[in-house]
Amino acid sequence: MKIVFATNNKHKLEEAQAKLKGTEIEIISLEELGFNEEIEETAETIDGNAIIKAEYIFDKFNVNVFADDTGLEVESLNGAPGVYSSRYAGEHVTYEDNVNKLLKEMRGKENRNARFLTAICLILNGEKHIFHGIVNGKIIDVPQGIGGFGYDPVFVPDGYTETFAELPLEIKNKISHRGKALEELRSFLIKN
Ligand code: IMP
Repeated sequence: MKIVFATNNKHKLEEAQAKLKGTEIEIISLEELGFNEEIEETAETIDGNAIIKAEYIFDKFNVNVFADDTGLEVESLNGAPGVYSSRYAGEHVTYEDNVNKLLKEMRGKENRNARFLTAICLILNGEKHIFHGIVNGKIIDVPQGIGGFGYDPVFVPDGYTETFAELPLEIKNKISHRGKALEELRSFLIKN
């Protein structure tokens, strides 16, 4: 079965491909579909943005598709950056700008608890399904590691001493927000 993953993020594609390896499911990227536009994420929730992205591609191409959206929720910042994680430091910023803004906002804060929350919206044969994944952890104050993307260099998942940017992809994929949501998606697709 071929299914479009509505993303142009190569890290996310790599994670999803690793997760669906060994199944009959083949992931098609937006690039392979010939679609290079940005889909605007205008919803105020993670679920809402995953739905917008999946519906956009379904309406345009009438294909089986899934899209994900992720937010980093920091306890001492009342859940920020949350749904604004990709533009925390402003529009058209780099991952590094967002990390620096986060570290600035958290300066002096003792409570470093945070979690990543991912929602995946799947549209299969025209029907919509939502899957979730969460990982709890802590924000450290000096970035560590060069793997991964986004806030990975400052996020240490519970039970580990290394950041997501230091841990091997197999481990991140097993315990992460997106890894768990992809696992739900995988089980669902295998059953259906
Ligand atoms: P997106 O809208 O799902 O791409 O996610 C919003 C932002 O969350 C991204 O720009 C990244 O900064 C961050 N993010 C998403 N997934 C991850 C991850 O697996 N690790 C670290 N940061 C992530």
